[in-house]
Amino acid sequence: MKNIKLLIASEILNREINDLILNDFQWTEEMENIFLDFSINKKPLSKIFQKKRFWQYDFFTNENTLDPRPDTEIIIEIMLKRFKKEESLFFLDLGTGTGAIGITLAKNFPQSKIIAIDICPKALEIAKKNAKNLKCLDQITFLQNNWLENIENILPNKNFILVSNPPYLLENEITKELTFDPEIALIPFKGAKNEIDRLEKYLKIYEKRKLFSNCFMEICPQMTELCIKYMPENKGIYKDFGNRNRVLFW
Ligand SMILES: C[S@@+](CC[C@H](N)C(=O)[O-])C[C@H]1O[C@@H](n2cnc3c(N)ncnc32)[C@H](O)[C@@H]1O
Repeated sequence: MKNIKLLIASEILNREINDLILNDFQWTEEMENIFLDFSINKKPLSKIFQKKRFWQYDFFTNENTLDPRPDTEIIIEIMLKRFKKEESLFFLDLGTGTGAIGITLAKNFPQSKIIAIDICPKALEIAKKNAKNLKCLDQITFLQNNWLENIENILPNKNFILVSNPPYLLENEITKELTFDPEIALIPFKGAKNEIDRLEKYLKIYEKRKLFSNCFMEICPQMTELCIKYMPENKGIYKDFGNRNRVLFW
């Protein structure tokens, strides 16, 4: 809890944590209210400060966007291992949210072009704002679309690399902390309750896999068997930094 208090003070006072440890600071009522919102209401600090770090960038986030998670950074790591930074690549970031994946790819592959899709117009506005702040707006086309509906008519070629972190939680897995993220970013559809329901968004990608040069999709490690069973033409699963199955690909 002491660390959380330091984080809050650092954000409010715009001072480094080390500076706060070494020199005194005043704990204010504003800080206490934020602390209570965090500890009692379980509101994540990222939602309170509307900011989440992903890779080395700060992304604006709010109630319309999923806060980018550290686990998702492995997708960037994989792209950097498989492709050269100077290549002219095409990426489709499906379900872009804050734009974390697509924007980070744009920054790391400066010659690449990206299509970033989301169904939620408010999330797309935030993704655009993040791309503008991070100076890569010219590389990215933001599109409101229902997952891969009509994608045949949208993609200009078959060289696109699909990257996605699809929603896969079941309704009964939404904990108090998660209620601050939009439901549409967490569950594949209203009423999702069986194991197979987790795969709804994945199977839609699988059906259209021939339209892409490669597909990389984040999974949760517990979904491994399910993914292998229902998407047998996969090429394998990458492990994350904690050695857990994390990215299914083909
Ligand atoms: C798990 S979040 C991933 C967000 C971001 N890519 C990340 O990794 O931080 C899933 C995203 O998919 C979007 N989404 C959900 N259903 C969709 C649909 N039918 N069509 C397009 N996007 C959808 C949500 O709005 C949300 O932004």
